[in-house]
Amino acid sequence: MKDYLSQLDPGNIPAHVAIIMDGNGRWAKKKSLPRLEGHRRGAEVVEAVADAAARVGIRYLSLFAFSTENWNRPREEVRGLWELLELFFQSHIRKIDEKGVRVLFSGVFKGIPSSTRKVIEETLGRTAKNNRITLNFCVNYGGRQEVLEGVNIWLKKRKEGELLTEKKMASLLWNPSLPDVDLMIRTSGEYRISNFMLWRLAYAELVFMNVLWPDFRASHLYRALYDYQKRERRFGGL
Ligand code: FPP
Repeated sequence: MKDYLSQLDPGNIPAHVAIIMDGNGRWAKKKSLPRLEGHRRGAEVVEAVADAAARVGIRYLSLFAFSTENWNRPREEVRGLWELLELFFQSHIRKIDEKGVRVLFSGVFKGIPSSTRKVIEETLGRTAKNNRITLNFCVNYGGRQEVLEGVNIWLKKRKEGELLTEKKMASLLWNPSLPDVDLMIRTSGEYRISNFMLWRLAYAELVFMNVLWPDFRASHLYRALYDYQKRERRFGGL
């Protein structure tokens, strides 16, 4: 692939990049491997991509690891995914911390096996003060649920006649410190948002790539950033 890294404008790096890591199952199928092997290889890719993102100065990287709809998959696969996530945090927690990565969790803890939840919570606590890059893991995440939960919390507290504003709504989302998404990447050649970060995606540039997630490399991220820098963002203006 062309050397996109050297062609990037360091003054125009998106602050928040969100990735739908799609195609693990198809990758495994192509190689006649079990689907879980695809997820395992997919998890291995995460570290290198996070390193590459930090290297170019991306401040926030959101990764869609499990959606509220993924419960509909075969029980074995769902269980395997939780085990994988647990193992990922267990084996990476030290390195993540040493590299100055702050981990956030966006999603619903209810339903997640307690042992998985425990290591996630441990990672959150241990990395809370880091600030080189923020890795936001979207786990048991649904974009509509995120907005609805915020609205419902607000409804219980609102004063009579008070209306919700965009600013207020943004402060009610999970992890309100996360800014809007500037660039959303989806791998595997599917052209969908799949209930991901609905509120924050409002003005994001969308890049769809024809690569299955386990084959995704730093060079693909640089390519997406290069495409992003070629776009003209107008935010509804002229
Ligand atoms: C989509 O592939 C991917 C997922 C549903 C899970 C993503 C999970 C990982 C990358 C591994 C765990 C992550 C971390 C951060 C440790 P798919 O199964 O929908 O693929 P398909 O569309 O080809 O079937």
